[in-house]
Amino acid sequence: MKGVILAGGLGTRLFPLTKITNKHLLPVYDRPMIYYPIEALVKAGITDIMIVTGGRKSGDFLSLLGNGKDFGLKHLNYTYQEGEGGIAEALGLAEHWAAGAPVCVILGDNIIEKNIKRAADDFRRQGQGAKILLKEVPDPERFGVATVQNGKVVRIVEKPKNPQSNFAVIGIYMYDGRVWDIIKTLKPSERGELEITDVNNWYIQDGSMTYEVLDGWWTDAGTFKSLHSAASLVAAGGANQD
Ligand code: G1P
Repeated sequence: MKGVILAGGLGTRLFPLTKITNKHLLPVYDRPMIYYPIEALVKAGITDIMIVTGGRKSGDFLSLLGNGKDFGLKHLNYTYQEGEGGIAEALGLAEHWAAGAPVCVILGDNIIEKNIKRAADDFRRQGQGAKILLKEVPDPERFGVATVQNGKVVRIVEKPKNPQSNFAVIGIYMYDGRVWDIIKTLKPSERGELEITDVNNWYIQDGSMTYEVLDGWWTDAGTFKSLHSAASLVAAGGANQD
């Protein structure tokens, strides 16, 4: 399985911190934000990694990360997203490189306490379809929200006003090689973006979506509040723990 980290966007919710740089280069406690998703993939046994970036200071990823030596990698791949077309559009830029392989996609501002090796191994065994990770949260209306019935995810609604559960879909997704054709069928949402939630609902309709509930804390770091709490959580015990 290959890994794709989505690290583009303008990070407008963090203005003015992101006025002159990319959100994923901002510090989260003792490291730049982008270090956490790279480490999450490497700890799940995924070493063939593509970083999709864009927006301000995208060239700084190369100076910061080089070929990934800090993570024990020999090579890192980079590609560039123009504009803000959404998570699914950014993922689509990795199609050529992925060459039909299954992918684990991680949003560059998602940070987790425990490593996801078990979920990645489960998906390797699953062999096809998709897998998402869920986490119960007090504020589900900020996220994609999953309805689970009889052990299956039956629907995901993106940022619902009246959430049907407290299960947020976290920004770590695993897909088989059909994902690229699914992305090509998507239409922009009301916020003008190709939504990853639409990709996930395709797999749910197909009957090939599985899920696991994440062990340990999860946070995004895309707002002042979540960036602050991400730093506190990392300071208290570190991320991507075994
Ligand atoms: C995105 C996804 C959402 C998911 C969240 C996780 O939201 O659209 O489904 O729950 O990431 O961080 P965004 O950060 O684009 O608002």
